[in-house]
Amino acid sequence: MNDWKPRTKLVHEGTRRSQYGEMAEAIFLTQGFVYDSAEAAEARFVQPGEDEFIYARYGNPTTRMFEDRIAALEGTEDAFATASGMAAVNGALTAILKAGDHVVAARALFGSCIYVLELLGRFGVEVTLVDGLDLGQWRAAMRPDTRAVFFESISNPTLEVIDIKAVSDIAHENGAIVIVDNVFATPVFSNAVSLGADVVVYSATKHIDGGGRAMGGVVCGRRDYIRGPLETYMKHTGGAISPFNAWIMLSGMQTLDLRVRAQAENALLVARVAESHAAVARTIYPGLGSHPQHGLALDQMGSGGTMVTLDLKGGQAAAFRFLNALRIIKISNNLGDAKSIATHPATTTHQRLPADQKASLGITPGLVRISLGIEDGADLVADVEAALGAA
Ligand SMILES: Cc1ncc(COP(=O)(O)O)c(C=O)c1O
Repeated sequence: MNDWKPRTKLVHEGTRRSQYGEMAEAIFLTQGFVYDSAEAAEARFVQPGEDEFIYARYGNPTTRMFEDRIAALEGTEDAFATASGMAAVNGALTAILKAGDHVVAARALFGSCIYVLELLGRFGVEVTLVDGLDLGQWRAAMRPDTRAVFFESISNPTLEVIDIKAVSDIAHENGAIVIVDNVFATPVFSNAVSLGADVVVYSATKHIDGGGRAMGGVVCGRRDYIRGPLETYMKHTGGAISPFNAWIMLSGMQTLDLRVRAQAENALLVARVAESHAAVARTIYPGLGSHPQHGLALDQMGSGGTMVTLDLKGGQAAAFRFLNALRIIKISNNLGDAKSIATHPATTTHQRLPADQKASLGITPGLVRISLGIEDGADLVADVEAALGAA
């Protein structure tokens, strides 16, 4: 691995050039690979060499470029690219769990992450959900059979900031593996591994693509885990990324640092405007002094991130008026895009949750989650101010 700064890694790390010396990363849009002989095929199935591939469900040169680039950025020994963020979350957990194991997870999670934890229960894995902000609850939930802990370092959509180092210390004292979904924190602002996480998971669909084009995900960690249980699980269950999508992620990564920093600047501008507006009951942004984990967010990320959540006075009706009045910011449910996006979690991403669970997670009818893009900050502020006026 090169001793480069993150921006240089994002542009150059992992590049594999063919005999043509192409400048841009090539798309190897091939499922299979030709062997020189039957003996060569046999040998490759026993142990493929560093630059040898078998089948795109197992790996592919374009996919490997993406994996090597993100691993270099994260500072992990290896990475495995997946078909989506959820394939990464599911794989990271399922690959190492068996019936009788116990998992401790933060309760404030993306709806599909909650589903995956429920699913584990069907196969005999017991899951204890805790308030991720309460270290006492993490400590109390740990058991001798606790195999893994799982949390979103910044929760979707209420932007709780979990103390990665403190939770990792508790998990490690009990011999558990720490798996962190770092999507909201982004690989630009957060290095969860340096704080103690063993495995870091991203939905590449979000900031890594950054253009709202392709689905993808990635699991980063130690080589014995990535090329051991994780790769074995992923390659046999079919959750690999397509080489074409890996190529989109590679090109997205070149501008990742520039985009995410511009997005965070816009997030702070919008959060400041919302915080002082009469239509807003509560503005949640880790970069504001009013956020309960503001200090932790700055220590862990040096930024408040790219997401702002508003709780509007007047509940769902006000939230819908706000959304419908936006002109630049689009109503959608993705995030991390160069285009700003607003979401009403209670009726979309978290609709499936029962009302009492939504209430306990703070997903109120007035809650609107905004993913800030890279548009001009003044235009975004004007858009939000006008929509708040309509709300
Ligand atoms: C925190 C978090 N994890 C995982 C995912 C899943 O990512 P994907 O949509 O790429 O499967 C999302 C998607 O919104 C998310 O917000």
